Amino acid sequence: MDITDAALAGPGLARIEWARRGMPVLSLLTGRFAETLPFTGRTVAACLNVTAETAVLVRALTAGGARVALAASNPLSTQDDVAAALAVDGGVMAFARAGVDAQTYAGHIHAALDTQPDLVIDDGGDLVEILHSRRPDLLGGVLGGCESTTSGVVRLHRMAEAGALAFPVVAADTTATKRMFDNTCGTGQSVMDAIMRSTNTLLAGRLVAVAGYGGCGRGIAERARGLGAQVIVTEVDPVRALEAVLQGFRVLPMHEAAGLAEIIVTATGSRDVIGATHLPLLRKGAILANAGHFDVEIDVRGLARSAVKITREVRPHADEYVLSDGRRIVLLAEGRVVNLVAAEGNPPEVMDVAFAGQALVLARLARAQERLTVGVHAVPDGIDAEVALLTLESLGGRIDSLSPAQQEYLNSWRAVR
Ligand code: ADE
Repeated sequence: MDITDAALAGPGLARIEWARRGMPVLSLLTGRFAETLPFTGRTVAACLNVTAETAVLVRALTAGGARVALAASNPLSTQDDVAAALAVDGGVMAFARAGVDAQTYAGHIHAALDTQPDLVIDDGGDLVEILHSRRPDLLGGVLGGCESTTSGVVRLHRMAEAGALAFPVVAADTTATKRMFDNTCGTGQSVMDAIMRSTNTLLAGRLVAVAGYGGCGRGIAERARGLGAQVIVTEVDPVRALEAVLQGFRVLPMHEAAGLAEIIVTATGSRDVIGATHLPLLRKGAILANAGHFDVEIDVRGLARSAVKITREVRPHADEYVLSDGRRIVLLAEGRVVNLVAAEGNPPEVMDVAFAGQALVLARLARAQERLTVGVHAVPDGIDAEVALLTLESLGGRIDSLSPAQQEYLNSWRAVR
């Protein structure tokens, strides 16, 4: 175990309890798992953002009989009180401290893998990558896993194409429920929350550029517009760019947007979206934030090289870079995933949907019920429908069911006369 301070367990428990109340589906699954014990005898190595919402997922797995080792999936996003609560009160092997260096970060993933997991759950693909490239001796024991985020899924596909992936992994971002809640509603809201917490700046009337119009970029663009900002979208994909235009956004190349925007948010999954060539174009006072999983979207090193002065923490999670021509540029969260570092990530209601699907997938894998081939798989449709129904019920919605006559009608190609 490696946590910052066990004495933080009390506040951590309170934070987890607050999150649990906003996660009705996972709470229901926790009760079910406690009765059916799908994870008995199984060890799960998890590499996730260590947040109160993740703690609710971990508790669902331990209620179902799992032994869980948890490492952080980002060196800055760990909620130290939550890690303490899980370690002290939840019997979880927690390896997570906020602000660790790259070596400790990797060491924590190795420590989680030392438990010889039967199942893995990853966010961004670092655990799966280390498992394959550095700990291949453990691969034979792994039944399968789950990957939470789009950046991780992209990496898994590259691994599978290269013939390097050794077990089945279910890509959680394939579900309609997760995309609907997590990427668009959750990330959109929590990125705005992070920008507001770290800058306390007014969004109304400001020019905001959002790089990338995938699920997350779309949510960020919509929420920024909802707060009164004028929003420019940058894209490399013509279809997505066209969608953005049809939604009323201005679409420009980054070389033009960089010189116009007062706030720029990257959400592309790619690197150097704001790179060396954009730095000379930035407006004075520009605020830069990254919402992608990895800290490669903004060239932070290039920014540091161009700066004559760097003032850390002009506000919490906001560093100011003064360039040689006197322009001040503000970088949020050191260019790491801003909504998890400068705010609390997606709200519980959002993570409820995302994690409920993954808990059900892991339960099937644990029972070796889901005999998946080696490779990257979509979440089985039945699980998505189950999560959608449970979530709908938790929100007070109810649906109709088809009558036998309707079913027959829909299954037939003959005209009804
Ligand atoms: N990813 C985005 N938001 C999150 C949260 N609240 N907890 C864990 N992972 C997340």
